[in-house]
Amino acid sequence: MPEQVPVIAIDGPSGSGKGTVTQLLAERLGWRVLDSGALYRLVGMAVDGAGIGFDDTNKIIKIANRLHAEFNDGRILLDGRDVTDLIRTEAAGNNASKVAAMPGVRAALLDWQRGYARPPGLVADGRDMGTTVFPDAGVKVFLTASAAERAQRRYKQLKEKGLPANLAALRSEIEERDARDRTRAASPLLAAPDAIEIDSTALGIDEVVQRVLQQAHRVYATSL
Ligand code: C5P
Repeated sequence: MPEQVPVIAIDGPSGSGKGTVTQLLAERLGWRVLDSGALYRLVGMAVDGAGIGFDDTNKIIKIANRLHAEFNDGRILLDGRDVTDLIRTEAAGNNASKVAAMPGVRAALLDWQRGYARPPGLVADGRDMGTTVFPDAGVKVFLTASAAERAQRRYKQLKEKGLPANLAALRSEIEERDARDRTRAASPLLAAPDAIEIDSTALGIDEVVQRVLQQAHRVYATSL
């Protein structure tokens, strides 16, 4: 029962720093992490790999329901194949955003995500953690940053990995993905009414983590 386990829900658009903030919070608290975006990325990759069109909703939902993925020691396996790095590409992010707009896909992943809420606590990273998956989370954060800043961060990450990157293309991909995530009917990217909104454009990651930790201490004082 997710509501009995302490949950910190971190939502926001891609590149807002959610992933890093989530990892740091989980390390500090000794809690588990749910990277919900990875699940949508895996569905997108399975669809792509099966050669199914991204408009074939029925087949895509079947794939989401039968997804065979494992998370082991920081590695992610899809049908036994290590796809840890492959799912991080922009193409995989865009495919994820297409399948994520389908209510049947979201429904297929719901219980799986809720199953991550186990003691001592969970830090959940996504778009709808505070609104749909963990509406009873004690701490909800909506993390944003300007599109220009997010494109710049992504550009730096790719360059550091020695991967090709084009700043203008990244920015338009980010904006296109945001628009799709924000305007879809099923669980759109939206701050929960009780979420704390933090704009990380001009803030260091440590400052963001500190703010969330303060809130977690206030809410979950006895569990920390
Ligand atoms: O967070 P990440 O960039 O890995 O997410 C990839 C895509 O998966 C997002 O653009 C979004 O469309 C979708 N997603 C979602 N709900 C979540 C997490 C991710 O719709 N909770």
